[in-house]
Amino acid sequence: MSDFVKMKGREKIVMVALYDYISAKIADEVGVHGVLIGDSVIMNVYGFKSTHYATIRDIVRHVQAVSNANPRYLIVGDMPFMTYETSKKDALKNASKIIRAGADAVKVEGGQEIADKVEALVKAGIPVMGHIGLTPQRYLTLGGYRLMGKTVDIAEKIIEDAYALQDAGAFSIVIEFTVSEVAAEITRSLKIPTICIGSGPECDGQILVINDILGISEIQPFFAKKYANLRDIIREALKNYVEDVKNGRFPSEEHFRRMKREEYEQLKQRIEERRKKNMHS
Ligand code: KIV
Repeated sequence: MSDFVKMKGREKIVMVALYDYISAKIADEVGVHGVLIGDSVIMNVYGFKSTHYATIRDIVRHVQAVSNANPRYLIVGDMPFMTYETSKKDALKNASKIIRAGADAVKVEGGQEIADKVEALVKAGIPVMGHIGLTPQRYLTLGGYRLMGKTVDIAEKIIEDAYALQDAGAFSIVIEFTVSEVAAEITRSLKIPTICIGSGPECDGQILVINDILGISEIQPFFAKKYANLRDIIREALKNYVEDVKNGRFPSEEHFRRMKREEYEQLKQRIEERRKKNMHS
């Protein structure tokens, strides 16, 4: 945790939102600094239409999968919609489940309005990452998934949210889909590292969702760079498999094992004897 915070101003912090054991292992191999098990899992893995459907059980299971990879990076588990806003007691109860599943920290969406929950979590020994700007759990009241901070009043509120989270003890803050000037101002003024997604280059670090990086998302946000076209690769592989099975090209000799000739001869003999016996009984 302290290593992560100390990176501010020294080295760019690289985070990925991912959900499974294999990706978790590979992320460690290539030097990722932090992994978020985001509530976006419920959309990207399970096909739900918003993050409102994610539950603590979903996050716990996927935190376990990432934690099983035994990585060197920081593991952050997202707190789903309505698992922390309701009361400090709920926040503590639910965050502890994510920590027990193997996370080093939890992430919560919101600013001044949830600062008391952040403070309670930190006081109880649970490190908290904030999340401001576009907060997808509040997309209904925000009027959709829209760029944040374009006007002075909203920009000022986002900056105040950042201060409130820092004062409450958050160790880092994600700034999502916010104009770059506001993200840069927050990054300059805070002591804790900022992690951007769609908010420009001047944050202390960046985070992208693995489905966007790999090119398997149904909708690719313009701010997420695609580093591969896995959707095409998966489609091609599955298409070839379907054709091979239909045409009898799979499985071929190298994909199965046969009995020894003598064993097979004996087996045939036994089957024949059994057949004859059954005929006469
Ligand atoms: O759930 C998620 O993947 C996130 C990232 C977009 C930051 O919150």
